[in-house]
Amino acid sequence: MAETNTQHNPNRLLVTGGAGFIGANFIHYWLKTWPDSRVVILDALTYAGNRSNLIDVENLSSCRFVHGDILDESLVERLLREEAIDTIVHFAAESHVDRSIHGPDAFLQTNIIGTHSMLKAAKKVWLDGQSSSHRFHHVSTDEVYGSLKPEDPAFSETTPYAPNSPYAASKASSDFLVRAYHETYGLNVTTSNCSNNYGPYQFPEKLIPLIIANILDGKSLPIYGDGLQIRDWLYVDDHNRGIDLVIRNGRTNETYNIGGNNEWTNIDIVRLICELLDQQFESDADMSKRFPHAPQASGRQADSLITYVKDRAGHDRRYAIDATKITTELGYDPQESFETGIRKTLKWYLQHEPWWRSIMDGSYQNWLETNYDN
Ligand code: NAD
Ligand code: DAU
Repeated sequence: MAETNTQHNPNRLLVTGGAGFIGANFIHYWLKTWPDSRVVILDALTYAGNRSNLIDVENLSSCRFVHGDILDESLVERLLREEAIDTIVHFAAESHVDRSIHGPDAFLQTNIIGTHSMLKAAKKVWLDGQSSSHRFHHVSTDEVYGSLKPEDPAFSETTPYAPNSPYAASKASSDFLVRAYHETYGLNVTTSNCSNNYGPYQFPEKLIPLIIANILDGKSLPIYGDGLQIRDWLYVDDHNRGIDLVIRNGRTNETYNIGGNNEWTNIDIVRLICELLDQQFESDADMSKRFPHAPQASGRQADSLITYVKDRAGHDRRYAIDATKITTELGYDPQESFETGIRKTLKWYLQHEPWWRSIMDGSYQNWLETNYDN
């Protein structure tokens, strides 16, 4: 019953969560790389979805934005049929670990039930009746593998699942559902498990954009626990390049780990951002006028804002990805070094102050209501 093809030719995509951080970067990447494709974006515009992320692509004839929920199975079915979709790239999720600790229900609803709703619609349209060429790509996380000790080898695709937060557990459940829809019904699926992403459009509740925005506003930089937890950081376009390879050439029902071989402690990342912004203030006199509350504007260094706070409950100590499989099997090769990626990211946040400020002060919601009626 199961398909075993490796080559897939994605022409008509349904991208869920395309108004979020990675999804929006994916849409830009995809339309630049494959301009002849059709892309339909389905996004519920939760607090994390930002329609302005898509403002320069939304009106292209190759692109359609649909404001809707992945839990709405009949909407998904209708979109699959009316747009003759051959590929689903499933990003939509609740994605912030801290929120999952304080309110797990939304994570179970969107990440588990929502993914199941997508799978049911895909099965109905692609498999029940006349079967058609298709691929369901599920975007997942390295957090499903749990936490590593300092001496442990990095996560590979065979590392047993051991999720620790409600977020990670919900993503692990969704990964298993995707697998089950292949094993049981023959749906052509692939999954990628990626490490921490950074880059443009990341919501300023996540570590890197939060630190940038807080320095510029002169707010404290909260370091959870001892700050020695380790994450493996990857520039977002390198994640999307990996997804592209998996969709086209990945083997059915295989999972691929994507990472940048770039482990940093949180405190070192925060200190690096502090230093880079100190240099920026030194070399550009305009910065102090633009950001009068930043410590550099009154002669202090950014690291004076570092504040150690209570640790995150169940905080995973270390993540690291072994990307050997995608590298050797699919020729994956990240393009961005951390040096170039973090500088690009800083530059983007400095050039897009209205973007993060409107999110932080709540005015983005007003903009949305004024500019769109759906
Ligand atoms: P994000 O929170 O920035 O964006 C999520 C998007 O999904 C938003 O646009 C939101 O409106 C949309 N969404 C949420 N619930 C929805 C629903 N019920 N119906 C339709 N749309 C809905 O997330 P992100 O950081 O871009 O992550 C995207 C995916 O990548 C997630 O599945 C996440 O688990 C995974 N991932 C993220 C990272 C990372 O470092 N950010 C790393 C590995 C994997
Ligand atoms: O590993 C992939 C995962 O990376 C994704 O699946 C998640 O969707 C994504 O949010 C991210 O999870 P993390 O919990 O690792 O990311 P976050 O940016 O929230 O935190 C990074 C590290 O920094 C983590 O160890 C917690 C710490 N931290 C975070 C914040 C927001 C702080 O010390 N202070 C903070 O204020």
